[in-house]
Amino acid sequence: MARKIIIDTDPGQDDAVAILLALASPEDFEVLGIVAVAGNVTLAQNARNALKVVELSGRKDIAVYAGCERPMRRTLVTAEHVHGETGLDGPDLPLPKLKLEEQHGIDYLIETLLAHEEKTVTLACLGPLTNVAMAMVKEPRIIPRIQEIVLMGGGYFEMGNITPAAEFNIYVDPDAADVVMRSGVPITMVPLDVTHMMQSTKPRLERIRGLGNKAGAAVYDMLSFSERFDLKKYESEGAPLHDPCVMAYMLKPDLFQGRHINVEIETGSELTVGMTVADYWGVTNRPKNVNFLRSGNADGFYALLTERLARLP
Ligand code: RIB
Ligand code: CA
Repeated sequence: MARKIIIDTDPGQDDAVAILLALASPEDFEVLGIVAVAGNVTLAQNARNALKVVELSGRKDIAVYAGCERPMRRTLVTAEHVHGETGLDGPDLPLPKLKLEEQHGIDYLIETLLAHEEKTVTLACLGPLTNVAMAMVKEPRIIPRIQEIVLMGGGYFEMGNITPAAEFNIYVDPDAADVVMRSGVPITMVPLDVTHMMQSTKPRLERIRGLGNKAGAAVYDMLSFSERFDLKKYESEGAPLHDPCVMAYMLKPDLFQGRHINVEIETGSELTVGMTVADYWGVTNRPKNVNFLRSGNADGFYALLTERLARLP
């Protein structure tokens, strides 16, 4: 039985690869819809990029919504320095024919969660958590109905990437992350600790390009563009690959290891705002609210990603 998911996203090249991985796996995922959020670049651009990726996947049945254009409290911080001006620099994807849905993404989240059987819809969150938190504030009835939130965000042993203490998705909207962490919804967090193990090395990218299909070529161009910043910063063989780990975890959880711990969000101190304070060693009595993934099998992840991308046009 395919898992019902809503993808909340700020595409971003790595988001795009995650969306393609999900749409290439219809026997595993029933993608109910995609909601864009401000993050890597502006909401309008992220929404346009989501439409482009859906078009690239060949899946005409997927609806895309626009959610919030700014964080709950803080001023929007974007990441053109990584993702380029369009947020999806690299491949030259055609302007989308597909149109955005009229309904606001928050209302779509609420309506869909209320319309489905309780605990049957998972939220796959690939960007700042603004949409999900705002939906929870607007309609608390959705909170007990969510099956699970699987999110890319945070870091403990890897600490931060946008500041020394904070990972980008959490940093952009720490207040939203705080609402979600405290919600009581089952959460699996895919942090930098995992995604930094998933290095997009040359052989791995060449295997994807070698698929010979449009999707493989586009993913190669996307990651070859977005990796530049990280290769220079980390001086590593390959750049971390973040968001597709969310889908891979749902597809093959045995590729990953983690434990159920307490995670809270720093929202006050300017020095560490957005930090995921993870009680990995159980030194407090704080409630264990997050399934925190610590590591993953990189070869297994790339084998899965490449095999699924091969299915696309
Ligand atoms: O820190 C990595 C995260 O920030 C990824 O989701 C990437 O797309 C950016 O949104
Ligand atoms: Ca993202």
